[in-house]
Amino acid sequence: MKETAAQSATAPEITGVNDPHSFSKPESAVMTHLFLELNVDFKEKKLTGTATIDFERRDSEDLILDTRDLNIFRVTDETGSKDLPYRLGNPVPFMGSALSISAPTGVKQVKVFYSTGPDAPALQWLDPSQTAGKKSPFLFTQSEAILARTWVPVQDSPGIRFTYDAVVHVPGGLMAVMSAENPKEKSADGIYSFHMPQRIPAYLLALAVGDFVFKAVDQRTGIYAEPVTIDKAVYEFAKMPEMVAAAEKLYGPYEWGQYDLIILPPSFPFGGMENPRITFCTPTILAGDRSLTTLVAHELAHSWSGNLVTNATWNDFWLNEGFTVYFENRIMELLYGKDFADMQRLLGQQDLKETVAELGDTSRDTQLKLDLKGRDPDDGMTDIAYEKGNSLLLVIENYTGRKAWDEFLRSYFQKHAFKTMDTEKFLEELKLQFFQDNKKAWDSLQIEKWVYQPGIPSNLPVIRSARFEYAEQQAKAWLQGTPASSLDVTRFSAFEWMHFLQQLPPTLKEEQLKELDETFHFTQSGNSEILFLWLQLCIRNNYHQSDPAIESFLIHVGRRKFVKPLFTELIKSPGGKAFAKRIYETARPNYHAITRQTIDELLNSNNN
Ligand code: BES
Ligand code: ZN
Repeated sequence: MKETAAQSATAPEITGVNDPHSFSKPESAVMTHLFLELNVDFKEKKLTGTATIDFERRDSEDLILDTRDLNIFRVTDETGSKDLPYRLGNPVPFMGSALSISAPTGVKQVKVFYSTGPDAPALQWLDPSQTAGKKSPFLFTQSEAILARTWVPVQDSPGIRFTYDAVVHVPGGLMAVMSAENPKEKSADGIYSFHMPQRIPAYLLALAVGDFVFKAVDQRTGIYAEPVTIDKAVYEFAKMPEMVAAAEKLYGPYEWGQYDLIILPPSFPFGGMENPRITFCTPTILAGDRSLTTLVAHELAHSWSGNLVTNATWNDFWLNEGFTVYFENRIMELLYGKDFADMQRLLGQQDLKETVAELGDTSRDTQLKLDLKGRDPDDGMTDIAYEKGNSLLLVIENYTGRKAWDEFLRSYFQKHAFKTMDTEKFLEELKLQFFQDNKKAWDSLQIEKWVYQPGIPSNLPVIRSARFEYAEQQAKAWLQGTPASSLDVTRFSAFEWMHFLQQLPPTLKEEQLKELDETFHFTQSGNSEILFLWLQLCIRNNYHQSDPAIESFLIHVGRRKFVKPLFTELIKSPGGKAFAKRIYETARPNYHAITRQTIDELLNSNNN
């Protein structure tokens, strides 16, 4: 399914038109290719260079790009010599400013000379002390959802796809990678060239620069990491080739050539980001025992759900994430069996229930189809898209049977590859395939309720896990007086530990927490998910022996999924707000803008 020249030459269908989060008007002029030339300046913390944009004109209107806090110096035609008039619109919060370029007929390329602003939220500039090696600075980007426009002037809508090339200049001794064909060795002159032959939306533009090396896992998978981390990472992710093979077996060929990972410093605000050809990920999944590699299955699955078939707008985010959670579980099921996958599904259902409880079961943010117009999409992107989305797909699978469902998905990915999908189109295709003469079945599955109504419908799939039931029995025995040291936990995987911790009663006595930690050493756990759940429990129960561990975790790790609930819990605890503020003073400079925004809001809000 590689795009042929002939395919790319035909005018792409007009998508990206109704995206409330982009100023671009693709129905007038739509970009088709980007050529970036960038200089990476660690001293000034700034990218400077040019973005040359090929576009197709559909009427005589201007070409409109999204920008946010960029310094625009000049706009010219492709020769770089003829200036073109342009206007920068008034900035709108989180949306930025429309850059309208008047290009006379005949001009098919424009060149924007620009530099990034000092606080571009897509960029995190790290000092050497914030890296694993402590010797070299590090830069990484995070473009999803609408942050690409803070480092590249671009039509920043998931409905608009383009190919790209880039030349990036970095300080000597550093390496650069992008969501494109990547170098495997450092260059002597600090100049790197990139080529991305497949069309991608702007949110998948990515760049990382630092002192990292590459090690192949097999011919088409590999890992980039700092020299001090690389061997641990290669051990941790040894199953990457099997994961790719499993994914292909399920839903068709991997379309992007290479599949690599880059291990970023701990301030990376997410677990992982599915940048094409190279997943960006947090070092907090380096547990030492391969117990957190599910995250890799998730980001890999995005190579189909999301990167091949892309949500039309952020209102359809569940099509990216819900499908990916479903797909990720299926990969893990092939590798580790059904009981493993079921434990993971149950943990997901637990997250779903917690998120609905938090947001309220009448909150419109608990619908699958979102309405984010006028809001920062980041505010509406919750676990709902992931776990309610996955649950709906399980409902459908249970109805159609796995074989028919897998066939549907395989053809879905093939038919819509390199295109966008919205909720309505998906439901239409689903109906056509499985419910044509069966309105009754359609209604009984409550599909429209799942999609367009808040809360959790009554037909949430019931999943049973003997292994979780066993873990529950152990927890119960302990609560009834069996000493922790006598519990049978020899066969517990990380999932059982997570479940064990999650289903303990909310209040425990100090001696109880002490006993648990002395027996199972949660505070020393190398598994960040277990450590996180443990610390959350400690805060909830005012167990202050863990304060140093909480402080060190929050200063070291900037992954929002961990940091936000821990701060939330601290604020609620007696005297905890002062402790939280003190920690945050030290931690904040280490955090990424995305995490910072969340925690700033949390600590500054007046109702606590
Ligand atoms: N695409 C997301 C990350 C994302 C979502 C970035 C929305 C910006 C806006 C990525 O695939 C993801 O879902 N990451 C999860 C891990 C996953 C195993 C659930 C994360 O970062 O926790
Ligand atoms: Zn995801």
